[in-house]
Amino acid sequence: MNCFAHAAIAVALTTAIATPAFAQAKLKVGFMLPATGTYAQLGTAIDNGFRLYVAEQGGKIAGREVEYVRVDDESDPAKATDNVNKLIKRDNVDVLIGTVHSGVAMAMAKAAKESGTLLIVPNAGSDPITGPMCAPNIFRSSFSNWQPGYAMGEVMAKRGLKKVVTITWKYAAGDESVKAFKEAFEKNGGNVVKELSLPFPNVEFQALLTEIAATKPDAVYTFFAGAGAVKFVKDYASAGLKKNIPLYGAGFLTDGTLEAQGADADGLMTTLHYADGLNTPRDNAFRLAYAKAYKLQPDVYAIQGYDAAQMLGIGLTATKGDAKNAAVFAEALRKARIDSPRGTFTLSRAHNPVQDIYLRQVSAKENKLTSVAAKALADPGRGCRM
Ligand code: BEZ
Repeated sequence: MNCFAHAAIAVALTTAIATPAFAQAKLKVGFMLPATGTYAQLGTAIDNGFRLYVAEQGGKIAGREVEYVRVDDESDPAKATDNVNKLIKRDNVDVLIGTVHSGVAMAMAKAAKESGTLLIVPNAGSDPITGPMCAPNIFRSSFSNWQPGYAMGEVMAKRGLKKVVTITWKYAAGDESVKAFKEAFEKNGGNVVKELSLPFPNVEFQALLTEIAATKPDAVYTFFAGAGAVKFVKDYASAGLKKNIPLYGAGFLTDGTLEAQGADADGLMTTLHYADGLNTPRDNAFRLAYAKAYKLQPDVYAIQGYDAAQMLGIGLTATKGDAKNAAVFAEALRKARIDSPRGTFTLSRAHNPVQDIYLRQVSAKENKLTSVAAKALADPGRGCRM
């Protein structure tokens, strides 16, 4: 062997020793999302958005090729602990991405906290995840249930509405959304006269719609999403309530649902951290790329998936690909301005997006931007000690 060959071997050995094993391995991303049930379509949009961002980076995050493992969580809290443990213990994923349903996400957050696995929540708004459950390795690319609810409480009070009935599913997301709405609405002079609910994912709304008609409030505030939101909006119109008692809601009521809701959704006003017609270069480019890749228009869930991948990229670039270094990962994200199609956002101390909440109105099957309801709204992060 000549001296050049010796030198080449020495360089190769030094590189191999200097490059940690994880940096040479694929990055295992564990998707825990619904593929069946009321929230199935939301899970698909999150998955699509995430993969679009990774594809835009040439299939790699922080230099590591990405491999996906996927579990259908069925939006079932009873199966959540087993499902998340499959990803952590059986599949040995580097990062957990999930989920849609707040109750399922709570089990994920508990497992992530105990195991130290990175978790990015791409939808579920469960307030405690960025409250008492907050942790250095847990992040959210979406919203807290408090945010759209609180913003709508202020909007409806400013519109002079005084007497409101709320209606939602009886589980964390519905309860927290209504609680935040009530906090802002009553602080600003309104009165929630009745709080109606039914178990998730029940869609037998008839008796509750009859009760709304009998109560004759000035308006209704609601949290429903996915297939349940489609049915609720259609039933509300069929019951003849739409023309007499204006319906408002957190934006999930009309996001990703307008094709199926048709004219029954026309005119509905909602608050959310995304809207159609933002007309920024960033959003226009994203919408074009998404439509090209999937032959579909994106919705808020697609954005949250896309931004979860962006956040993973920012954190792992800072750790040079090491998914175990939560401290450096978190420090990078706390300093970051995330260049989202929804508008740039930062993360709160508890790792929840600090973001504009838009007021939107449905017209021609779009959630058209009306105004900014709350600028850079930060979840209070109550109970987070970090
Ligand atoms: C939740 O369970 O947190 C949720 C589900 C669908 C849309 C928004 C929030």
